Amino acid sequence: MKEILYISCSPKAAEATSNRFGQQVLDRICARHPSARINRRDLALTPPPFVDAAFCAAIMNPAANAAAFDASDVLIEELERADALVIATPMHNYTVPAVLKAWIDQVVRIRRTFASTPTGKVGTLKDRPVFIVVASGGWFTGPSPAGTPAQPDFLTPYLRAVLPTIGLTTIHVLTLEGVTRGSDALAAAWTNAMQSLERILPTAT
Ligand SMILES: Cc1cc2nc3c(=O)[nH]c(=O)nc-3n(C[C@H](O)[C@H](O)[C@H](O)COP(=O)(O)O)c2cc1C
Repeated sequence: MKEILYISCSPKAAEATSNRFGQQVLDRICARHPSARINRRDLALTPPPFVDAAFCAAIMNPAANAAAFDASDVLIEELERADALVIATPMHNYTVPAVLKAWIDQVVRIRRTFASTPTGKVGTLKDRPVFIVVASGGWFTGPSPAGTPAQPDFLTPYLRAVLPTIGLTTIHVLTLEGVTRGSDALAAAWTNAMQSLERILPTAT
């Protein structure tokens, strides 16, 4: 493994639970692959551009509007170089933060990272392990320990649908739920996610 792409998107930077656990994922992958280089792409610090009129025009006529893909090309090339991908994200209003959606809109690109075929969209990137770390204030995989019903989750099903669209099918989701509900809840979430990580790693990397 030569390069790991680390995508972070919490506005809380190093304080963020998603980033603190994401660093644990990186540390453990690097322990197994000591020569691996980490490429850090902080989407909160440097948000990708939103899709605009020029980008839409380039989708229809790439030759005439190639410059509109400059940012997209850089982000896709980073993805292509990576042997593993770690995405560390908070849950914002039941789904991905806007900056992560902006990144997705730049890298999921017809005729570049996927082809549209009569049988559906076919990803053109080579597969590689993708670790997704999700931190949420409340609970969404089930009810809270106090019995509050699970929140809707448009984050993990979305990433599990959109990443395979470009060929990234080997997805490992690690959740830290209830992280704003006191130190005991945070500690339980951390222990839980760490156990999942230790279980996954031996075969994942
Ligand atoms: C704008 C915003 C929306 C949020 N929406 C949700 C939500 O829908 N569900 C939830 O459980 N927590 C929600 N939270 C809480 C965050 O998920 C929580 O603070 C989490 O720790 C953030 O991860 P981070 O520390 O990595 O940034 C929201 C927080 C913000 C700032």
